[in-house]
Amino acid sequence: MMQPKYDASLLFVCLGNICRSPVAEAVCRQYVTRMNLNIRCDSAGLHDYHKGALPDYRTLKNAAVHQLDMSGIRSRKITVNDGNQWDYIIAMDHSVYKQLKTQFPTQAQPNVLYEFMAFNPQAQWLEVPDPYYGTAKDFELVYELCVSTMPWIVQKVKSAML
Ligand code: 4NP
Repeated sequence: MMQPKYDASLLFVCLGNICRSPVAEAVCRQYVTRMNLNIRCDSAGLHDYHKGALPDYRTLKNAAVHQLDMSGIRSRKITVNDGNQWDYIIAMDHSVYKQLKTQFPTQAQPNVLYEFMAFNPQAQWLEVPDPYYGTAKDFELVYELCVSTMPWIVQKVKSAML
């Protein structure tokens, strides 16, 4: 069977891949589907504490409120191979970004590392705050930042595709 071909590919990365990057992945998939774009979306975490796990129950609860489909998403740790498989590797916060920069060996570190909130010139936030030790409000903020920033990200990706 032929491999599916994508016009671009995006990997969202946070710490545990159970709170922030899965929401970014799901919001991205929903948005590109609506826009009828052929863009691949995935997510991963820096560590494997939650390997194979569903998104955090609070993430799923908040997604359900917004009818965001998160089915099929399981936590996985980013691998060295991810470094040369994605057009965009997008860190959800600055410390994840810094960690990714040091983690990838120089030759495997393509020019693909970005910070999520840097795409959004209108946002009040410079990063997507980690909600893990927070409340429902913090999980809602993750969702809102993902929804408001995704059009900026996709716009940038689209303009690079031309
Ligand atoms: P995430 O949130 O990086 O947005 O998935 C976290 C998930 C788990 C932990 C920390 C943050 N943890 O310490 O297990």
